[in-house]
Amino acid sequence: MNITKDPFLEWFRNVSPYFHDHRGKTIVIMIPGDCLSQGMFSGIVSDLAILHALGVRLVLVHGARLQIDEELHQKGFVSKFHKGVRITEREHISSIMKAVGSVRWQIEALFSSGLPNSPMYGAKIKIRSGNFITAMPKGIIDGIDHQMTGKVRSVDGGAINDILKENGIVLLSPLGYSITGEVFNLSFADIGICVASTIKADKAIIFNDDGAIYDRDNKLYRELTLAQCKEFLDGSDLHAPSNSYFSLRACYSVCQRGVPRAHIISSRDDGSLLKELYTRDGDGTMVYSDSYEVVRQAQLEDVSGIINLISPLEQKGVLVKRSREKLENEIDYFAILEKDSLVIGCAALYPIEKSNAGELACVAIRKEYQKAGLAPILLAYVEKLAASRNITEIYTLTTRTAHWFLGQGFVEVEVDALPASRKALYNYQRNSKVFCKKL
Ligand SMILES: CC(C)(COP(=O)(O)OP(=O)(O)OC[C@H]1O[C@@H](n2cnc3c(N)ncnc32)[C@H](O)[C@@H]1OP(=O)(O)O)[C@@H](O)C(=O)NCCC(=O)NCCS
Repeated sequence: MNITKDPFLEWFRNVSPYFHDHRGKTIVIMIPGDCLSQGMFSGIVSDLAILHALGVRLVLVHGARLQIDEELHQKGFVSKFHKGVRITEREHISSIMKAVGSVRWQIEALFSSGLPNSPMYGAKIKIRSGNFITAMPKGIIDGIDHQMTGKVRSVDGGAINDILKENGIVLLSPLGYSITGEVFNLSFADIGICVASTIKADKAIIFNDDGAIYDRDNKLYRELTLAQCKEFLDGSDLHAPSNSYFSLRACYSVCQRGVPRAHIISSRDDGSLLKELYTRDGDGTMVYSDSYEVVRQAQLEDVSGIINLISPLEQKGVLVKRSREKLENEIDYFAILEKDSLVIGCAALYPIEKSNAGELACVAIRKEYQKAGLAPILLAYVEKLAASRNITEIYTLTTRTAHWFLGQGFVEVEVDALPASRKALYNYQRNSKVFCKKL
């Protein structure tokens, strides 16, 4: 029998795993104020209502930069900025409150209207706002007093979670109240980052006017590890105060604070939120923080990473100095430990001529990753490699790490115990201790 494929069934079966994945998950969504003045906003609200109906717990954080600009302009005020951050003068704050309030009411009204002309027509959704954010002054930066521009001091995560548990959507505005009762103008991204990390959100999503992130050849960056994201922020053509820089910076910060994934999606493409969450490839850029270490054979491209790792130890005299050329020639003897494309550890195993022995050298773990049991993982890899090359004993020479090697099953031996070809090269001036481990 010839079965014709029903496109609806096929589509439904393809998206259903995502329903399962996202149900019960908490997502913090950051929406710049600019989105409201674009024709897409009611579509965004309708998509948020669909997510809510599918069991996603939502915290929305809106911005209001455009609306604040317009309000201040109408009053004849001119805002000053420092590195893209507005300096909020005391006499501007009531205009800012008015602009922010009007954005918030527009959003609440859209959710309360029963979403006419949308797939979620008739949906009843509880939107809750409140004093969840305590603020403090941003202070004086580069000698410039930021006055009523603030930053997040704390987040009432418990109160936010209570609303989410009762099936409400939390809506946060870019204002915060200080313990002295003053109102501060905050960045919506700062709030999004702090809230997402406090309530341990599963994801953060930021709408960007300029869409996802592309490289110089206009190729979409679908995924970036934290390290790649940092490299891109440090070295790319994106600069503050561009929207894309700002959005990527927010994704980086939120993942650095423990949120596993952060996405940048376009505020101009209809349905970008649903496409990002319910299709395999999405059409935004995702930054992710969950990563793990990989041990592998080193390659020529790893030489710079190895130099970066070992040169501080060479300068201190802990490791013997190796030139780049020597490292390149000997790269096949090296194994590395890699995390997010960063070399965080290395070890070399040199065969000792005319013997069935090898020499373990240049064992190093980046300082910030030490004491986490990583060097033993590297050692186990090297030992396995040695066994596969018929090496039956490993020697190592060290001036300062004797006890670590003892802890790894090495025993101290005399210099004379070294195979003759290696003993001939022993540096009596360096006077290293010799250790041996039988495999
Ligand atoms: C030695 C080194 C590779 C260990 O890496 P690691 O991934 O931190 O290893 P572990 O997690 O198993 O070991 C950590 C333990 O070793 C101890 N240790 C670290 N350096 C030591 C040293 N020079 N002598 C004795 N013990 C040392 C730590 O104090 C720690 O002990 P603790 O857990 O009781 O506090 C790492 O400290 C390093 O890179 N040191 C600088 C380079 C070096 O000395 N290389 C060896 C010469 S080839």
